[in-house]
Amino acid sequence: MPSKSAGPAIAKRMEKLRAQLREHDHRYYVLAEPTISDEEYDRLMRELVDLETTHPDLVTPDSPSHRVGGLPTKEFPTVAHAVPMLSLSNTYNEGEVRDFDRRVRMLLGKEPFRYVCELKFDGVAVSLLYRESVLARGATRGDGVRGDEITQNLKTIRSIPLRTFSKKKGMEDFEVRGEVLMEREDFRRMNEERDLAGEKMFINPRNSAAGTLKLQDPKIVASRPLKFFAYYIRSEMVELSSHYENLKLLRTLGFPVSEHARLCGSIGDVIEYWKEWEERREDLPYDIDGVVVKVDSLRQQDRLGAIAKSPRWAIAFKFAARQATTVLREVTLQVGRVGTVTPVAELEPVFIGGTTVSRATLHNEDYIKELDIRPGDTVVVEKGGDVIPKVSGVNLQRRTSGSAPFSMPNVCPECGSRIFRPEGEANYYCENGDCPAQVKGRIQHFAHRGAMDIEGLGEAVVDQLVNAGFVRTYTDLYELHKKREQLVSLERWGAKSVDNLLAAVEGSKQRPFSRVLFAMGIRHVGAGVAQLIVGRFHTIDELLTASQQEIEQIQGVGPRIAESIRRFLDDQHNRKNIERLRNAGLRLREEQKRVASGSPFLGKTLVLTGTLSSMSREDAKRKIEDLGGHVASSVSSNTDFVVVGEEPGSKYDKAKKLGVRTLDEKDFLSLLKKVS
Ligand code: IVH
Repeated sequence: MPSKSAGPAIAKRMEKLRAQLREHDHRYYVLAEPTISDEEYDRLMRELVDLETTHPDLVTPDSPSHRVGGLPTKEFPTVAHAVPMLSLSNTYNEGEVRDFDRRVRMLLGKEPFRYVCELKFDGVAVSLLYRESVLARGATRGDGVRGDEITQNLKTIRSIPLRTFSKKKGMEDFEVRGEVLMEREDFRRMNEERDLAGEKMFINPRNSAAGTLKLQDPKIVASRPLKFFAYYIRSEMVELSSHYENLKLLRTLGFPVSEHARLCGSIGDVIEYWKEWEERREDLPYDIDGVVVKVDSLRQQDRLGAIAKSPRWAIAFKFAARQATTVLREVTLQVGRVGTVTPVAELEPVFIGGTTVSRATLHNEDYIKELDIRPGDTVVVEKGGDVIPKVSGVNLQRRTSGSAPFSMPNVCPECGSRIFRPEGEANYYCENGDCPAQVKGRIQHFAHRGAMDIEGLGEAVVDQLVNAGFVRTYTDLYELHKKREQLVSLERWGAKSVDNLLAAVEGSKQRPFSRVLFAMGIRHVGAGVAQLIVGRFHTIDELLTASQQEIEQIQGVGPRIAESIRRFLDDQHNRKNIERLRNAGLRLREEQKRVASGSPFLGKTLVLTGTLSSMSREDAKRKIEDLGGHVASSVSSNTDFVVVGEEPGSKYDKAKKLGVRTLDEKDFLSLLKKVS
């Protein structure tokens, strides 16, 4: 319907909804102080989306509905930065920072000045242009002069305002710069899911943020937990004079600004700040790699100017990386569930950032070749946050004579079969689908907490059962009860532990279809994708007869995933296994669908803390998951609810601090009741 006949009332209502949603996004994502429930928020959003569907001509570029991601782009256009995005020169010790201070004092003569100290976020720098208070263009730093235009991707980041609150006159057209990053916990969770789905894992939160911003499908970007911190604003209309004041201005415009910036009167205070954050960096939910020191007065910044690509008014004061040198004893190979063969560095144990590291990843053959890493070398090992340690360099001076370059063996260390590297891929694969490492990996994945959740079926037990010939595929688990007597006589087992295991296997038959589908270990099918598929194909038979095109049409499932599903289901061996699972009585149809659609937990993330009097934690978790929710282990701003039992832990404090909604046992039970 055209807007004329839609009438001004509808346009007005839409404007009101946009303003309300904008306000609530800001309260939730920037201030972490939400004032309405998720249900109310969803209701407002639904009303807006409905109106936008019937009145497409009334859709505005600042609509909060655009956060979910628009259409994919083929290539990002290159855009020029009006003012180059400079980089900072790095210093690593007090002496160099004092040199910097001396230079500044010398250049400013006798003028008094102040520094602003900030955290140096380990993320990706971006520029945001606002026109008439609306986000008009977002771009990467690129080479500092030109970057990629990634507006659609940046719009999906909830803490970036699509329209700012213009509280200062003239502050409608301006540029903001800042850092996009991913919190460690979000990164860890995302990587865990990728691992389970057999996808390539990211090396650290920064790579993961950078990789995400480069994606061509904004819908996938929208599903990734990116955050933003603003640290710079430039206006051609309004005269700005102090960087510290600018940070406050950014806050009033609605941008997330770190609360840890500090004005410092002397270089001594700057060094204090650096020391403080070197110690406290682990307390932050995201990685920082140092602090940034800036002269506060913009006039003085201008006077100091820049040399080459770095300003003379600012410097990065970095922390010593969490790395150490040690000797690489040998390179071994590790075989994963889908047959990926990864080289691993076996190291002389070395203490880094609080733990002893004796193994580290070497990524792949090309990485080893590129760095020319050889067994016997003295290597640099790096550890960042929760990330798997990696070998990041070699000390060539300490290379012993007679060392030889590493060459990839051509057989699998687990089964002796040939390993091969497909064209265009970095990884090697073991060609033997019956390779014990793969067999065990598949069963472990099947039994894993997030999949069939079979208690007592961890790595060691799987090893034992496979080695003793009791199971070869996960379908064999459901035949184990026939061999009860033989199992009881196994080493370290007894009647009680065998019965417990058999009961856990039996109990797993109640897991919903989406979990079974995930547990099957189809490449690229993680828990989330499995739920999407089950949402469209309610039974295994529907899925078995679906074409690749039909599968591809599910939102969030691309051709790569669809092809992988089709290939898996077309394999005769897999078909047989599916029939065996069916005969064993597993759920191969979605029965909870109707309940789940009215569920208060559908698509929500919950965290449990303290003891519940009416049920165990495991039961609570299962109930939430059966209602379409996800239970996470720690609280972040992505948490929707924290269920608080008796004697809650620090998660409760964190929830209060972040303004996450809490449910006591009574609230929780009454929500559960609502849908049962
Ligand atoms: S100011 C000339 N402030 O560090 C001003 N940068 O090497 C440069 N960064 O590309 C930007 N935290 O990605 C600034 N608080 C902060 C920062 C920060 C991280 C990054 C940014 C930039 C790089 C400079």
